[in-house]
Amino acid sequence: MDIVERIIISEEDIQTRVQELGQAISADYGDEPIALICILKGGLMFLCDLAKHITSPVTYDFMSVSSYGDATESSGVVRITKDLEESIEGKHVIIVEDIIDTGLTLSYLLNNLHSRNPASLRICTLLNKVSNRKVEIAVDYIGFEVPNEFLVGYGLDFRQFYRNIPYIFVPKPEYYREDV
Ligand code: PRP
Repeated sequence: MDIVERIIISEEDIQTRVQELGQAISADYGDEPIALICILKGGLMFLCDLAKHITSPVTYDFMSVSSYGDATESSGVVRITKDLEESIEGKHVIIVEDIIDTGLTLSYLLNNLHSRNPASLRICTLLNKVSNRKVEIAVDYIGFEVPNEFLVGYGLDFRQFYRNIPYIFVPKPEYYREDV
C-alpha cells in the first residue's frame, strides 16, 4: 500500500506472539472461566485472534471508550460510549486492548471495572508504548513494546481506516502531517 512508510511488526510476528500470549493466559487460568473484555474498536482484531489460542473457557463482552477521537494525540478526556452487557462481579476479567499509550484510558477503565467487584482484573495489550505514559499502569500481558510513533494497522486506525490490515505500520508523513 502506498501509505506504508515501513512495517513495524509483520503479520507473522503478530500471529506468533498472539499465540504465545494465548498459551500464557491458558497456563495461568487453567480451567477457570475468563471474562474477556474487548475495548472497541481497536481491540477487536486482537481479541478474535487471541481467543483462538486460549484453552480456558472464555466469554466476551465489549466496551467502547472514547479517548481521543480522530486525532493522533490523547486529550485525556475519557468517557464510556458503550458499556458492558453483563455483570463482571465475581468473574476473572482480562481487559483486551490493542495499545496502551498515555495510559489514561486504562487508568479510567481499571477504576471503573474494579468498582464492579470482579474476582480478578488483568490487562492484556498487544502493543505497549511505554515512553508516552502519563499514568503508571501495571500490565500483565504485553505483546510488543513499541516506539513513540504513529502506528496503524491490526486494529489501529488512521481516520477510522486500515484497522483490517494484518500488520502494523508507520504511515508516510505526507498522509497525516500538513507541514510535509
Ligand atoms: C486507543 C486504544 C486505547 C487508547 C490508548 O483507542 O485502543 O483504547 O487509545 O490510549 P491511551 O493509553 O493514551 O489512553 P482510541 O480512543 O483511539 O479508540 P479506537 O480503539 O476506537 O481506535
